Parts: sequence; structure tokens; C-alpha cells
Amino acid sequence: MNALKIISFCTLAALVGTMCHKMDMGTNAIARDVVENPFVNPIPIPSILDAANATLDAKSNTASLGSGTTVNTLGYGGAAILGPTLRIQQGSTLNLAFSNNLSEATNIHWHGLEVPAAQDGYPTDVTMPGGSFQYNFPVNNRPGTYWYHPHPDLATASQAYRGLAGFFIISSPDEEALGLPGGDYDVPLVVQDKRLDAGLIYNPNTDDRTIGMFGESVLVNGTQGAMLEVATRTYRFRLLNGSNARIYNFALSSGAKFHLIGTDGGLLDAPVEVSNILLSPGERADVLVNFGGQAVGSELYLQSNTFSGTESQGKQTFKILKFKVARQETDNSILPNALMPVEVISASVAVATRSFNIGHMMSHGGMSAMVMHPLDGKLFDANRRDEVVNAGTTEIWEFDNTTGTETHPMHIHGVQFQVLNRSGGRSAVQVWEKGWKDTVLAFPGEKVSIIIRFPGNKGKFVFHCHNLEHEDGGMMLNFEIQ
Ligand code: C2O
Ligand code: CU
Ligand code: CU
Repeated sequence: MNALKIISFCTLAALVGTMCHKMDMGTNAIARDVVENPFVNPIPIPSILDAANATLDAKSNTASLGSGTTVNTLGYGGAAILGPTLRIQQGSTLNLAFSNNLSEATNIHWHGLEVPAAQDGYPTDVTMPGGSFQYNFPVNNRPGTYWYHPHPDLATASQAYRGLAGFFIISSPDEEALGLPGGDYDVPLVVQDKRLDAGLIYNPNTDDRTIGMFGESVLVNGTQGAMLEVATRTYRFRLLNGSNARIYNFALSSGAKFHLIGTDGGLLDAPVEVSNILLSPGERADVLVNFGGQAVGSELYLQSNTFSGTESQGKQTFKILKFKVARQETDNSILPNALMPVEVISASVAVATRSFNIGHMMSHGGMSAMVMHPLDGKLFDANRRDEVVNAGTTEIWEFDNTTGTETHPMHIHGVQFQVLNRSGGRSAVQVWEKGWKDTVLAFPGEKVSIIIRFPGNKGKFVFHCHNLEHEDGGMMLNFEIQ
């Protein structure tokens, strides 16, 4: 797929009088509804791998994913789907020998980490089938919940959808000293919707390429109808929206409040009490949920509540994961008043402001089912340098969806940023957008400003929409740190 050809086709079409932008073939598409299944499958917890000295491969497999029907999957490190949780101490060096045992090119992107450009899984830096690659870089990010997934040009959506993704967890002595729930009480939960009725085959149609690929089955850690037995105490859940396109408005079915302790870039300065958290694809939230008041034998659910802001999804409340209160236990965890300092970057230190129009859609139905999604009027081209920034400087970037009709979770590689402001739509920075972030959601009508301090890792990185069908539909640009 050649982006330049599409642009010239588009210009030509415009000349002969066909509207190219907002051709609106599928803007009225609606996400398919979630179908709940009995919550009877014990939730799998990914195995843990020390990222300081790891070997990992990607390969195809088969599994039933709790559905009773076998489907084709992709997994890392021998898992049928997903991969081990990589763990490392802040300040240590990652050493990971990767082998590609797939029949297609792939690579690994370290979502949320500050990584040298050559290690970041740039779309054209791929490992061929049968090949291997040594990842090696210092991990300096704050303690928190990050993740890894493939990033090959035009195939990120397909490979992530079929199963490739895993958690990347950073700890530090300071974090451990906080006494947050650990061990079996620290549970990573990746939530993803899939079409199990279609055998987990990635075959998006025009609507899917327009609004993103939505499935009827919601999987947690790769299992549909997932269930977790809990004790009457506090748990730390690390929520990751690993879906291609679906947004979840996470809440407890009891309506009970819980505590948000961390976002994309690690722990907040203090816990915040919340009753819901809206996460778009790529975003994370670290939460504490206290089951202390529940009777043994009772059940409650992690669910997604309805939300507004976009026409294509949010109309349905559905259950995601059952918590079955199975035993009485004394809670030895504490809820700290303070977590980890968060340096607030002041807008006054920004040396530049760049604004990106994310409000265009360009559709082509005639030739194939491709639907292109431009970012600031351009489609991804690995040979272009779109933005050049200076290492160590601070900038304000605005993602402007004011005139848009689609929903875009915008993500920047190799950096963490802070959300400064939102105008239009929800018109405020949300509680779960505090602290450090690497992905931020812009609903139609919204303009979101963020502030970024660029690290010293020089080279070319990408930023893009993390709706993976939009990403593969061209909604990705380059920036170079010099
Ligand atoms: Cu998680 Cu470029 O993405
Ligand atoms: Cu990323
Ligand atoms: Cu998008």
C-alpha cells in the first residue's frame, strides 16, 4: 500500500468532483454489541519473566480462550495468546533475545518506555520470519504498568488482534516500600474484545476499517467469561485496554468506589477515589479495590458502563470479569496518603506549540476495502521527517479533533507527557489523565493539549492513533529527536 498513490488518487478524485474527505461511507457504523457468556473460566495470570535476562519468541498456536471452540492464535514466549509479564527494576538494563517464529515479519514496541530509536520497534525495523533480534536498553521509566506489542508497518492491528501483547512492569525500592498489595494480590488485567465467532481471523471490512475492529467477546488475560476468586482484602489491579478499538468505562457492578493509584507513566502522587475510569486502546490504570466489606460467597463484576462522546460506541453496559469472594483474610496492605512525587511541568517552559488536525477522514471504497485516516492531512510514510524536535526541550502539542466525527486515542512513542487542557466535548482533564501519560483520548469535538519533555534518545520515532485500524490506515507520523 503506497501512501503517495492514495494521495494522488485522492487529488485526482477531488478534481473530477468526488468528495474525498469525509466521503462518509461508514461514519455511521456502530461497534458490534458485546455478548456476555457465563463467567466460569478461572482467569489465567501471565507468567513472569525477568526482562534483564530474557529469551522470547513469537509464534502461532491454537487455543479455545474459554469459548470451547479452538481458534488460531499468536503468542509470545510459548503462551497460546499474549505473553509473559516482563518485570524489571527501574535503572536496570533490559536484555532480551527475540526470535520470530511467525510466518510474517514482526518486531517489538515497548509502549510507554523511553527507548533508543533503534530499539523502539519503528514500523520498518522488522525481524523477518526465522530471524532474531537482541533488544538491549536501560529502563529508566517510573515504576508502573507499561506493555509491549508488535509494530510492523500495516500489520500492527492484525498481529495484536490475533494475540501478540504483554505487560511490562517496572518496580523500584521506593515503590516496594509503599506496602501496596503484592504477589498474588497484584493482578495485571488486559481487556480485549475479539470475534471468537469468526475464529479470531483478522479480516476487517470497510466499517471495521472506519471505526475499528470490534468483537462480541470480551477477554481478560486471553479468556472470555473470566472469573477471579478473591479474599476479603485489598487488591492492586493493573488495567490495560489492549483492544484494537473498543473503549471501556470501567466500574464495579456494585457501584462501589475504588482508588486510582497510577496511570500510563506510573504511580500518581496520591491515591484518588473514583467510581469509573474511561480507558481507550493503549491506556492503563493502576487501581486498588477493597473487597473487605464483602461477604464470603458474594459476587461482583468489573464492568463497562455506558458513556457518551462518540456515536460509534458506549451505548451498552456489559460485564467483563467476575470477582467471587471466596475466603476471609486479614488485610495487611495499607492505603498510603502519598505515593510517588509527580513533577508538574509548567506550560511556561514550552519552547514551541505544534497543532495537529486529527479531524479528517478519507475513504476509498472502490479499490479494495481500504479506508485511510490522515493525521494532519498526511498518511504515514517511513521516508518522511514530519516533525523535528530538540532533545531535552519541552513542547506543547495539540491534537485537534474539533471538526472530526471519529474517536482517536493519540499515542506518542518514546516519551511520557502530561495532559494540560481539553476544550470542547468533555472540556476538562479527567481524573484518570493525571500524572504521566503516553496515550490520550480525543472524542469528536475535542481539542487536547499535552506537554512533552523530549528525552535524550536521538532518532526517528512515530506518533499515531492507537485505534489500530486507524494506525494501519495511515494515521501515523514521524518525529525526530535531534
Ligand atoms: Cu502501543 Cu505505537 O503503540
Ligand atoms: Cu508506543
Ligand atoms: Cu483514530
